[in-house]
Amino acid sequence: TFRMNDGLLDDSLSVTPWLIMAAGTAVIGSLQFGYNTGVINAPQNSLTKFLQGSRFSEPISQGTLTALWSLSVAIFSVGGMFGSFSVGIFVNRFGRRNSMLMANVLAFIAALLMGFSKMAASYEMLIIGRFIVGLYSGLSTGFVPMYVEEISPTSLRGALGTLHQLGVVIGILVAQVFGIESILGNATLWPLLLGFTLLPSVLQCVLLPLCPESPRYLLINCNEESKARTILMKLRGTEDVSEDMQEMREESLQMKKEKAVTIPELFRSSVYRQPIFVAIMLHLSQQLSGINAVFYYSTGIFERAGVSQPVYATIGAGVVNTAFTVVSLFVVERMGRRPLHLIGLMGMAVSAFMRSLLVHLIAAIFSFVAFFEIGPGPIPWFIVAELFSQGPRPAAIAVAGFCNWSANFLVGMCFQYVEQLCGPFVFIIFTILLLGFFVFTYFKVPETKGRTFDEISAGFRQSAGRGSDKYSAPEEFSTLRGDDPDL
Ligand code: GLC
Repeated sequence: TFRMNDGLLDDSLSVTPWLIMAAGTAVIGSLQFGYNTGVINAPQNSLTKFLQGSRFSEPISQGTLTALWSLSVAIFSVGGMFGSFSVGIFVNRFGRRNSMLMANVLAFIAALLMGFSKMAASYEMLIIGRFIVGLYSGLSTGFVPMYVEEISPTSLRGALGTLHQLGVVIGILVAQVFGIESILGNATLWPLLLGFTLLPSVLQCVLLPLCPESPRYLLINCNEESKARTILMKLRGTEDVSEDMQEMREESLQMKKEKAVTIPELFRSSVYRQPIFVAIMLHLSQQLSGINAVFYYSTGIFERAGVSQPVYATIGAGVVNTAFTVVSLFVVERMGRRPLHLIGLMGMAVSAFMRSLLVHLIAAIFSFVAFFEIGPGPIPWFIVAELFSQGPRPAAIAVAGFCNWSANFLVGMCFQYVEQLCGPFVFIIFTILLLGFFVFTYFKVPETKGRTFDEISAGFRQSAGRGSDKYSAPEEFSTLRGDDPDL
């Protein structure tokens, strides 16, 4: 059912202005996540001075200062853990679009707390603000890919899903540039740098009400067939949406047989156990690759590599990061998810190995980042939505996101200590982990390109049916019926 043309993407005819507007508005949430990931790096000196002088009458010890600083950095991921885990509470009750809208309250509060912390001489406001913007970012990493995947046509899910990561990397880059000392990264203007997060939120609040609710949510969760059809016609730019409608109805029928899927059920049911395991491993492969060792601590890494202006090298890494996300966006629908994830992991493993042997090899850091964005950066974020049908999707995204943020926290907290212990060989640890994830992906991760959500879950149902689990259907059913042992 591809409509081919000469454009860069297959099916580019179905990239309608509505689809771009909806996806573009959603990924403002991704931009916020990226911005707040990158923003705290550059103004480190001004911020630690603020922490030191904010209210303590006597100078605080170096130990307390380091603890306060680490807390300000890492509490963001703690917020992310809570936020991502709560995704399921919102999306089925309020819908996908309205959940994104509501989350902005958090971004507002966080921006005000951080932006006024200096004026109020309160380090608590800074730390609480970082936690709340973490909550917001955690919610975004669930809401945005879910919404974008649900509004996209099957043949564009990967390309549009990669927009989430593109939002993240652009956010990081903007934060790196704004963080230059002569722009906002100095002792006077850092409150503006942190409070800036208010503006994208305002923009998103203006645009979201103009965007449609996910037709999949309307049809499958709310039974609003005619609304879903009207929205689909707008999104696809054609009157003929019968194929999409049919596909959703099938999924809806399938879902009526499953009760609402809770997080514990994901692990109990043999049908979901395999895809949730794959989802978790893909997210762990993203974070335990060590990517945020670069994005959180690049200044130190480049300094030790002998760079005299580490800030600019960091921005260089941000540019490479963005460029290769764009590359991935254009090739993911042709090459598929599996090959790109495998190439990315292997490339990162080799780069990390080179980095540990040749500390001065700056190119190794750049290629580490480039390979990350080919696959391990964008793919885990959107593939979880593809691995599950409508029923279990919110719970699965919550679990996978929680694992991602926990691993993010772990690397953020431990990297510096482990590096003190083993020097450049810390990157050997990442090499070993990356090779492990490569083997896992090779044997366990299915290709999802060009398959409908229902086809993908049918594949898992079938392989669960083949197992010897007490939940599984009799062998002859799964072989006779091919895809659906329950029918
Ligand atoms: C991914 C990761 C995030 C990382 C970013 C780097 O979005 O989830 O932790 O900072 O990529 O581009």
